[in-house]
Amino acid sequence: MMPCCFCFAPGRKKNLTNKSDNKSKLDKSDKMIPKLDKSSSSSSSERALETVRDAAEYRCRIFSFQELATATKNFRDTSMIGRGGFGPVYQGRLDTGEKVAVKMLDNSGPQGDKEFLVEVLMLSYLHHENLVHLFGYCAEGDQRLLVYEYMPLGSVEDHIHDLKDDQEGLDWITRIKIARGAAKGLAYLHNEAENPVIYRDLKASNILLDDEYNAKLSDFGLAKFGPSKDMSHVSTRVMGTHGYCAPEYAYSGKLTAKSDIYSFGVVLLELISGRKALMDSCDCTDTSSRYLVHWARTLSRANHMDQIVDPKLSRKGGFSKKLMERTLQMALKCLHEDANARPVITEVVTSLDYIIEYSLRGRIHRRGGRVDTNRAGTSTEMDVIEEESDILERKRVLEEALSWADKCRRGSQPTATPSPNLKS
Ligand SMILES: Nc1ncnc2c1ncn2[C@@H]1O[C@H](COP(=O)(O)OP(=O)(O)OP(=O)(O)O)[C@@H](O)[C@H]1O
Ligand SMILES: [Mg+2]
Repeated sequence: MMPCCFCFAPGRKKNLTNKSDNKSKLDKSDKMIPKLDKSSSSSSSERALETVRDAAEYRCRIFSFQELATATKNFRDTSMIGRGGFGPVYQGRLDTGEKVAVKMLDNSGPQGDKEFLVEVLMLSYLHHENLVHLFGYCAEGDQRLLVYEYMPLGSVEDHIHDLKDDQEGLDWITRIKIARGAAKGLAYLHNEAENPVIYRDLKASNILLDDEYNAKLSDFGLAKFGPSKDMSHVSTRVMGTHGYCAPEYAYSGKLTAKSDIYSFGVVLLELISGRKALMDSCDCTDTSSRYLVHWARTLSRANHMDQIVDPKLSRKGGFSKKLMERTLQMALKCLHEDANARPVITEVVTSLDYIIEYSLRGRIHRRGGRVDTNRAGTSTEMDVIEEESDILERKRVLEEALSWADKCRRGSQPTATPSPNLKS
């Protein structure tokens, strides 16, 4: 069944590929002067803003429009670094010297305002190394601006799709580390935050990268608090981005943490294949195969897993075939049609930890006793190292079982049973 959303947040699709077009859409006279339009500032949105101001007090800074105009050099075109459904994003520097990204809401309708308030509330309370940090906001008149930590390497989308001629693309380890960072951010939202949060908008453009390619989730305007203990799901108007939306959520509007797992699976597939969640039509023969999930499932069922893998990866230092297959299996598990069959996020993190550990071992070459951690290994070298690790792991499990049997023989009470796969 194809994933498809019934409706999407209005205007929530940006186009980064043509930044100059986007820039020209900006009406400078509009953005420079905070509008104080009494008719549009209805009492309910005023009240909501006040509630948010109280709730976010001491947690994030309230900026004046003038401060942000100064920080971004008057929102000049050369400061613009992107544009999304919310509006343009500018790079700036605060009076404290900190580099920031300033997002300016350009559709000041009720929906945009709601997303703005949810974003401020969520990010005032949620703090984790894999979530982007919100410095503060500005709500003067009709102006709504959000001030984030600046993420110098932009979004994951900028590194895997529509690469420029001078861009080489990411290597395997970097891709898989990015996936783990995003998964850890999700794990915090699903399990560690005081109230569980369903993110709802996981996609490549919402995963931002710092200067060491550490991943941080951004954009919480669509996030929802998870179901309370006696409820299995949150019912909600269906929103999200085409190509990332879980099928059960698209058809029924029932939102669970497993909807996020599905979107995570799509991102993982993008990282593996270098293809977009909704592929360019020239890549495919019919409309349904434009969906990355459909395309990858078809190849996987036909046993052509190798065709799913981004060819650029072989040029970027190689990867272990076994680990790649394991990663692909994990992505497909996250994309299971039956939401209950998808893994929980902690399982995903553990699996990615394992894949990273063994991929890193594959990068270590012992040449005459010298360890070279810079040179990436070829697939064959990595597979040999992985097999050696498997042998060591089996040896360890066997030793544990032998010591358990030894204890039994000597009549001492065992405290644990041996690993089930050693029983026969
Ligand atoms: N904190 C940040 N630091 C650096 N660049 C950023 C930051 N936030 C956003 N950007 C840049 O601005 C672009 C647009 O971001 P934005 O979140 O507004 O839209 P989007 O995620 O691409 O689309 P959508 O509105 O559908 O979520 C991003 O792709 C990224 O390149
Ligand atoms: Mg975004």
